[in-house]
Amino acid sequence: MANCEGVCEIMTLKAIKYSNGKLELLDQLLLPSETKYISITGVEDGWHAIHKMQVRGAPAIAIVGCLSLAIELQKEGYNSKKSLRQEVEGKLNYLVSARPTAVNMKIAADELISLVNSLDRDESINVDVMKLRFIQAIENMLDKDVADNHAIGEYGSQAILNGIKSDKTVRVLTHCNTGSLATASYGTALGVIRSLHSYGKLERVYCTETRPYNQGARLTAYELVQEKIPATLLCDSMVAALMKRQNISAVVVGADRVAANGDTANKIGTYQIAVVAKHHSVPFFVAAPLTSIDFNIPSGENIVIEERPAHEMTHIGECRIAAPGITCWNPAFDVTPAELITAIITEKGIVRPAEIEKLKDFTRRS
Ligand code: MRU
Repeated sequence: MANCEGVCEIMTLKAIKYSNGKLELLDQLLLPSETKYISITGVEDGWHAIHKMQVRGAPAIAIVGCLSLAIELQKEGYNSKKSLRQEVEGKLNYLVSARPTAVNMKIAADELISLVNSLDRDESINVDVMKLRFIQAIENMLDKDVADNHAIGEYGSQAILNGIKSDKTVRVLTHCNTGSLATASYGTALGVIRSLHSYGKLERVYCTETRPYNQGARLTAYELVQEKIPATLLCDSMVAALMKRQNISAVVVGADRVAANGDTANKIGTYQIAVVAKHHSVPFFVAAPLTSIDFNIPSGENIVIEERPAHEMTHIGECRIAAPGITCWNPAFDVTPAELITAIITEKGIVRPAEIEKLKDFTRRS
């Protein structure tokens, strides 16, 4: 945030602007007070934008990381297929290191490394064709993510409406930001909410502030206000009271990494919402693309949780809000155990965590 007051500007929301050879990102550190795009000229810029959280949200991290590589490759010439393959592998592994918890960048890197290897082996193409095909595969990620999010929205809204078994409208709680700012567009959990709204079935969405980085207050609230979706902001500490006093139909959140047993890492605070939802018999849904599912790790115990700097807790923008000298603990994510999750909503359908294996058939890496 540029200052402590923060003034909302109206804009057409597009977090990632890409056209051949040019990549621009809406700087999410400045929202909602300032609408400013930064130019990404290559992998180094991409890595820093992800690391500093100028772009954030698991799918957006992967898309921006890969597009930053596409931008860099477009500027460079390669005299052999081997040198292109080696360059690509090194840069992708570097991009994976920008943030550890969300798995989407790692999965995209593995798939692109396997693609570049098969292009290298294909004797019918030269290095220029190899580069072109590789860049096209990255560019396709944008359209695929939008299509996947619409499918998630459709499956998720139907699941929530089926759950209430009546013609009523629903009240839904969400956490963090999972919308156009966290994806190529539309969003995952926020896509479900957009879908409910488009059917005239959403009475109200409640969004948490999502301390300490305030993705809910700064970003989700921003998207909801822009689209005139009926929405109410609450502090993270108000969730139990909300469920006690308001009739909440469902919780829907995103995911940064879902383990093979359904345990799910998502923004810090998700776990306590799931515990409270269980207590109040409110269904708890995780909405995530297949690229957020990591079948290589057996459980949430194996997920590396990123720890962020104390400054994110002690300050809002440049305003200090905590006593100078206090020690902070700032894990960016927590793990919600599978037994607290009603179902996982993906672009290929909905599964209970215990049935997550069924989704393996849809993943190219199974
Ligand atoms: O630290 P962030 O802002 O990158 O965390 C984002 C979240 O936890 C989202 O809820 C998750 O990535 C899903 S985004 C569609």
